[in-house]
Amino acid sequence: MKEKTVNIGDVIFEMENVTKKFPGVVALDNIQFNLKAGEVHVLLGENGAGKSTLIKTMTGAHKPTEGTIKVNGEVVHIEDPIHAQELGIGAVYQEFNLVPFLDVAQNVFLGKEPKKNGVIDREYMIKRTKEVLNMVGSDIDPTVMVESLGVASQQMVEIAKALNADSKILILDEPSAVLTEKEINKLFEVIERLVKKGVGVVYISHRLEEINVIADRVTVLRDGQYIETVKVEKNNIDKNELVRLMVGRQLDDFFPKHDVVPGEEILRVENLSTHKLLKNISFSLKQGEILGIGGLVGAGRTELVKAIFGAEPADSGKIVVKGKEVTIRTPKEGILNRIGLAPEDRKLEGLVQILEIDKNINMASLDKVSNGPFINEQKFNSVAADMSEKLKVKTPSLKQLVCNLSGGNQQKVVLSKWLACESEILILDEPTRGIDVGAKVEVYSLMNDLAKAGKAIIMVSSELPELIAMSDRILVMHEGSISGELKKGDYSQEKILKLAAGEA
Ligand SMILES: Nc1ncnc2c1ncn2[C@@H]1O[C@H](COP(=O)(O)OP(=O)(O)OP(=O)(O)O)[C@@H](O)[C@H]1O
Ligand SMILES: [Mg+2]
Repeated sequence: MKEKTVNIGDVIFEMENVTKKFPGVVALDNIQFNLKAGEVHVLLGENGAGKSTLIKTMTGAHKPTEGTIKVNGEVVHIEDPIHAQELGIGAVYQEFNLVPFLDVAQNVFLGKEPKKNGVIDREYMIKRTKEVLNMVGSDIDPTVMVESLGVASQQMVEIAKALNADSKILILDEPSAVLTEKEINKLFEVIERLVKKGVGVVYISHRLEEINVIADRVTVLRDGQYIETVKVEKNNIDKNELVRLMVGRQLDDFFPKHDVVPGEEILRVENLSTHKLLKNISFSLKQGEILGIGGLVGAGRTELVKAIFGAEPADSGKIVVKGKEVTIRTPKEGILNRIGLAPEDRKLEGLVQILEIDKNINMASLDKVSNGPFINEQKFNSVAADMSEKLKVKTPSLKQLVCNLSGGNQQKVVLSKWLACESEILILDEPTRGIDVGAKVEVYSLMNDLAKAGKAIIMVSSELPELIAMSDRILVMHEGSISGELKKGDYSQEKILKLAAGEA
């Protein structure tokens, strides 16, 4: 295609009457959408509304069933992501696309390795990878294997990869879901810089606070339908209005926390340590309590909850459940001690992608729906139906494979699985990551119900408003230790951030 001069404000991408059907689902129904050079255009909608499908049709990962797509005013048929890249469209998907057994630089240059005298120019790859990572404020070593990185770092690598391709259209599908405040701020600086240069950014997020900071326009989708495109004023969005457009009704309370009088101590950990990271972690937890754990990515929050559950056992220290010291070296022993962990990385640890929804939900609690070795099908089905109903998992059937669900709906299945388990100590690692505002309220209500029923909950969260609103007590971690404990009434974002940075 011939190069055109593009000015800020020009429409660089357009979708007219685009429809995308999957078996049993109309994911996009006659959608209008356009993107201008130099704007951040947010896609907003509940889980399963069609956001990811829309951007996948932008990148050729999906072909529209009907409709027209134009790039710089010309009709195009985007064949595949490589074709999209040639058209200047780059994307960071919700589910990552990195090759785990390659290093960071190899991933950033995948498929377009630079050559010098016929051989791959490894030196340049490393240098350039460092540069693009620096642009997003990250100091990840370009030569480490991607599989050794945590999710936040992997996200950074994905973003670096898109930046390296010098995209004119940059699509980010829930990038902040795995980043901390600090990293998000860095990302926003990068976006601002790109937008000033005329790049058009499509940004998906369920966090209204973020949209408030960076959006120029917001397009709302609901059930695959186009609802409205609104121009928004920076730092002055009408949150309630956007929620109303998104869910079709008002939401009165974003954080419905009920106070519960705590009961007996149910869990105590003493001096839990690992050679790798954790240093003498001690705390106790009572029935009915929701204990929040804050901190930066890498501070050891996930390591701590994995140690308690038995997924990555501690090297020393004690775990005491209901007054009795217990040995928890495997998840099975965790489950036997009535501990459940809904992990942060649903793709790797939370779900079996190629199994159906109902099997995933029942997976950790098969004994409850079985008579001896036989599964009681009626119970099995009713547990699956009940849990997915409670959390409003959006799917044409519970026999749908989990890999076909939208990101947020997968997260709901992870939660369903652990709720079905009836653990007495339920650990939720970033429970609302990637789920829409309406479903968040459902999750919070379920947490309330569980607490009221005497269960104890540990919630790891990077979302400060959620941590503050839903916790009865907050522990903050920094570099493998607990850097402070905050009592209810004494919380503030600053205090948490300071403790998280090890400054207090
Ligand atoms: N490959 C597929 N096969 C069958 N159905 C699919 C497939 N991909 C998406 N869907 C369905 O299309 C609908 C839209 O999904 P999509 O992933 O676009 O939602 P989303 O708005 O991105 O949601 P989320 O906020 O949860 O990420 C959902 O009902 C989903 O289950
Ligand atoms: Mg999505």
